[in-house]
Amino acid sequence: MQDNNYNWVHKDLLDVTQLSREDVICILDIAKSFDEINRRPVKKAPTLKGKTVVLFFAENSTRTKTSFDVAGKRLSADTFALSTSGSSINKGETLKDTGLTLEAMHPDIIVIRHQSSGAAQFLAERLSCGVVNAGDGWHAHPTQALLDCYALREAWNGDFAGKTLLILGDIAHSRVARSNVHLLRLMGVNVRLCAPRTLLPAGVGHWPCEIENDLDRACRDVDAVMCLRLQLERQQAGLLPDLSEYARRYCLDHKHLRLALPGARVLHPGPMNRGLEIADAVADDPNCLVLRQVAAGVAVRMAVLYLLGMHGGCNAED
Ligand code: CP
Repeated sequence: MQDNNYNWVHKDLLDVTQLSREDVICILDIAKSFDEINRRPVKKAPTLKGKTVVLFFAENSTRTKTSFDVAGKRLSADTFALSTSGSSINKGETLKDTGLTLEAMHPDIIVIRHQSSGAAQFLAERLSCGVVNAGDGWHAHPTQALLDCYALREAWNGDFAGKTLLILGDIAHSRVARSNVHLLRLMGVNVRLCAPRTLLPAGVGHWPCEIENDLDRACRDVDAVMCLRLQLERQQAGLLPDLSEYARRYCLDHKHLRLALPGARVLHPGPMNRGLEIADAVADDPNCLVLRQVAAGVAVRMAVLYLLGMHGGCNAED
């Protein structure tokens, strides 16, 4: 599966910032071969037979949790899930003790989603099995950025150079935006951001991106737009005076997309707030890659589990 000249050295996948361009291309190429398996009548490979993958999701998830589960099973790994509800986390067990308890069952990989930034790294430093960050606080969501990169590479026929992506919406609270900015810049994509000033993160002026507050101007000549979910559960700070005003100014519709390049693609990590950050007609347009992103998510997560399960773990160098 791997190029003989390429050596995967990572014990864990915690953030895209740890990946070289060569690592990313390797993940995307392996994902492509798994994507082909996923279209076959029998969607199964024996690659991770005998390996155990724990899905430890302390925050809600549909896409990430399900696709890691499907990915593990398609590679013949045994997968089992732990969520906050119904676990001893609800009795006050700490992250460290939960991690050590899971590791005592000898899993090969723990996939963790957690509301606290740094939770995945905290476990990775204490456990000898591989750890995959499935989203930690506002910090990082590396497999989301990798699947977005996969979907864009496919849509752009493998060519990232000179392309421009607009990331639109609640950037301040978005681990998806943080991971995508880094990864897509690494691949040579120009990244533009558009959001109300209150939904731009502190220090955004140092990010390697253009910033444009007006959506019409932001859409001009872009190759793709990535809409972000307005994180309504994190809006208690009163960052937005009025949701209908937000929708009027920042909900992506076809009127804005006409200013983008012909055939511009639309992405959304999901779940979508239709009518708030993305118009129904755009979400259901053939140029919208949302469901392709979900399919890519299974293939990319198969590639990540394969690399950590076969080449990572406690023998890797980092
Ligand atoms: N994009 C994403 O992380 O979706 P879920 O929260 O459903 O996993």
